[in-house]
Amino acid sequence: MTDLVVVGTGLFGLTVAERMAEQGRKVLMLDRRDHLGGNAYSETDPDTGIEVHRYGAHLFHTSNERVWEYVNRFTAFTSYVHRVYTTHRGEVFPMPINLGTINQFFRSAHGPDAARALVREQAAELGGKRPENLDEQGVSLIGRPLYEAFIQGYTAKQWQTDPRELPASIISRLPVRYTYDNRYFNDTHEGLPVGGYTAWLERMADHPNIEVRLSTDFFDPSQPVSKSAVVGQVPVVYTGPVDRYFDDAEGALSWRTLDFEREVLPVGDFQGTPVMNYADPEVPYTRILEFRHFHPEREYTSDKTVIVREYSRFAERGDEPYYPVNTAADRDRLKRYRELMADEPSVHFGGRLGTYQYLDMHMAIGSALSMVENKLTA
Ligand code: FDA
Repeated sequence: MTDLVVVGTGLFGLTVAERMAEQGRKVLMLDRRDHLGGNAYSETDPDTGIEVHRYGAHLFHTSNERVWEYVNRFTAFTSYVHRVYTTHRGEVFPMPINLGTINQFFRSAHGPDAARALVREQAAELGGKRPENLDEQGVSLIGRPLYEAFIQGYTAKQWQTDPRELPASIISRLPVRYTYDNRYFNDTHEGLPVGGYTAWLERMADHPNIEVRLSTDFFDPSQPVSKSAVVGQVPVVYTGPVDRYFDDAEGALSWRTLDFEREVLPVGDFQGTPVMNYADPEVPYTRILEFRHFHPEREYTSDKTVIVREYSRFAERGDEPYYPVNTAADRDRLKRYRELMADEPSVHFGGRLGTYQYLDMHMAIGSALSMVENKLTA
């Protein structure tokens, strides 16, 4: 007897399943992939033994004490602190833009007040005119020199579109720090799971009340827990794409995806840091990840390293959906899908695909905990 079917074994589905199982419910989890863990999944690179995040770099960070306490039940975290650098015109700068970036870029030695005044003056270029596109928005937020060096080319590559043709609303703020602090995240807690992501995720599902069926698509009518067989019979938590659930009845929602190009190099250290962004439009990739640097505490091989170049593009049918594009047409469609969801009271839509929202891991876990409390056990 199953009390709950959870479609998707990402962090949203795993949190729901673990909490419900702990309360004595029998939970059946499905995933169409051949592994659990959703996009947070990682694996050991066969050539180097280095842990690689299969769906892009995943850094855990949160200021939510409840989520932090919860995740620590399944794994300890390392003291890793995320920092990012960017290469622009053959020179490496610290990111996000901070006093170090500003002084290196302008060949200056400004203190915080002088740097703030400089950026304010450069950002006044549009003279109060309302920004009409992303280019103007960028200039009005941080001034043309910094925008053109660090944001314009990178954004054009991310969106495969000239920023003059992108809506201003894509960027509401561009953080500039007037200190030399180049910690990427501002959260109270951050770190990487000591034993790797997959050990953490498997531990969440390791409960006598949880059964996991991999390589099983909820929409495949030939398998016994398909949509047609279970909806209306057993409560369902669905974390797959919302448009797919309704057979694209209101049209497909648009996403960006990433292509990953992996390379093993015969050196112990390629770039000296985990993430190097490439700001210039001539470089086709947006960044290079070197996974060994996520775990400096581990003893990895010193004669080779694995790097991954990331390329960004619009997702087509069959691609992995990564970041919601969220155009006005998408928002309209989502509104209509929400109306359809209201007609399916025994199906609870959650997670980043089920709600068409970018969610960091701590947000997916936090919203799953709320769903359990407010909807599934209320
Ligand atoms: P997730 O996508 O993980 O899981 C959904 C699952 O549903 C998948 O396993 C899928 O196979 C399954 N599924 C879909 N349709 C199905 C069907 N029909 N039948 C059966 N199963 C089906 N967060 C963070 O905190 N720090 C970070 O650094 C990053 N980095 C990052 C990089 C990239 C490139 C992306 C795209 C995302 C991040 N994230 C992140 C976000 C993180 O990946 C996200 O928070 C979690 O994946 C959310 O978990 P979900 O369970 O919502 O979705």
